[in-house]
Amino acid sequence: MEVIITKDADEAAQRASYFFANLLKTKANAVLGLATGSTPLKTYETLIQKYKEGEISFKEVTSFNLDEYVGLSPDHPQSYRSFMNENLFSKVDIDLTKTFVPPGDAKNPLEAGPAYEKMIIEAGGIDLQLLGIGANGHIGFNEPTSSMRSRTRIKTLTEKTVKDNSRFFAPDEFQPSLAITMGIATILEARQVVLIATGEGKADAVAATIEGPLCAMCPASSLQLHENTKIIIDEAAASKLKLTEYYNYTLDKQDKILAEFS
Ligand code: PGA
Repeated sequence: MEVIITKDADEAAQRASYFFANLLKTKANAVLGLATGSTPLKTYETLIQKYKEGEISFKEVTSFNLDEYVGLSPDHPQSYRSFMNENLFSKVDIDLTKTFVPPGDAKNPLEAGPAYEKMIIEAGGIDLQLLGIGANGHIGFNEPTSSMRSRTRIKTLTEKTVKDNSRFFAPDEFQPSLAITMGIATILEARQVVLIATGEGKADAVAATIEGPLCAMCPASSLQLHENTKIIIDEAAASKLKLTEYYNYTLDKQDKILAEFS
């Protein structure tokens, strides 16, 4: 794991968008794994800016989102499809027909997971997967105790996740407690992973992910098994790490090497 500690959320977004921009410049038809939630918003804003400035294009990109609520149709304002349309897809030149979100309204939810996996394989696999992390260590909606070999499937959300996400729903609005999510094995197959976490509320999950044991209680710790993962965190999210000095020292060295070769 490469741990990148930034001074704030803006710098975290700059760092994360750098990896996306780099990929799009070298592989115009890249397959992106995308995420929803508050954390990726600044990264999407930065990417939209880079698109507007002509630095990158999404024209040939295919994308797969991590997850979707079960019981919400794509046009529901709280669906993750709506989130993506509003916060990224409508603002760049991506071909909407090549953007995929797991179907929260599938007639047969049991078939929907394997079908989504097949689509990812047919697209050539995910080049770069963006992740947030839950305060309980979840990635996608793989809640604690999810199997490390799990595939796209229906998951029941924990009370904590439902509570954390209730801020997006009106008090009297139906809030789903089931989701369809890529599995941990699906995520681990991405060629590169960028996980972003900001704020003190994520500090315990971040410490467990990076320095804790490989453990089903912290699904993100499964990324210890991934060979090309960048964890981009602001100082607040990094506040419970033990080896901060080492991560900063390593990053400084890498930045110097990169500067030499660019
Ligand atoms: P957040 O969610 O970015 O809204 O904090 C992250 C997640 O639950 O994966």
